[in-house]
Amino acid sequence: MEEKPPVGGPQGRRRFFKGLLAGLAGLWGTGFVASLLLYLKAPRHHGAGLDSAVSVGMLNELPPGQGQMVTGAHRPFWLVRSKEGELVALPAVCTHRRCILQWDGGNQLLCPCHQGSFDLNGNVLGGPPPHALEKLAVTVKGGRVYVYP
Ligand code: FES
Repeated sequence: MEEKPPVGGPQGRRRFFKGLLAGLAGLWGTGFVASLLLYLKAPRHHGAGLDSAVSVGMLNELPPGQGQMVTGAHRPFWLVRSKEGELVALPAVCTHRRCILQWDGGNQLLCPCHQGSFDLNGNVLGGPPPHALEKLAVTVKGGRVYVYP
C-alpha cells in the first residue's frame, strides 16, 4: 500500500503554489491576448467607418468663408470652410497652455491667453505655442460632414 504525504506538508504546499502560479500565469496570458486582440481591432481614423467620427452637420449649412466651433467631442475643435470651399478641422485647444482658440473669421486661429496664432494648416504663426496643431480628418458622406476628433 502506497503512503500519501501528510496534508499541509512541504509536498502539499509545493503543489498548492505550483497550481497558484499556473493559475496566475493563465490569467495574465488571457489578459495579454485579450488586450492584443482589442488593440488589433481598434478603429483607425483614416479610412475607417464613421463609428469614431463626429457628425457636424450638413455641408450646405456651412457656406464658404464660415466656421464653427464644435464641442461635445472629447476635445473641442474648429471646422472652417475656406472661401475656396475646402473643409479644415483643427483642435480648438492651444498647444501652449491649453487655452481655447478663437477663429479670426479668416485664415487664423488666435489664442487669447498669450497671443499665439496658427494658420489653417495648424502651423504656428507667432507667439509661444511650442508646436503645430494636428489637422483632424474630415469626410463628407451623403452631404453630411464628419470629423475625427
Ligand atoms: S495658451 Fe495659447 S499662447 Fe499661451
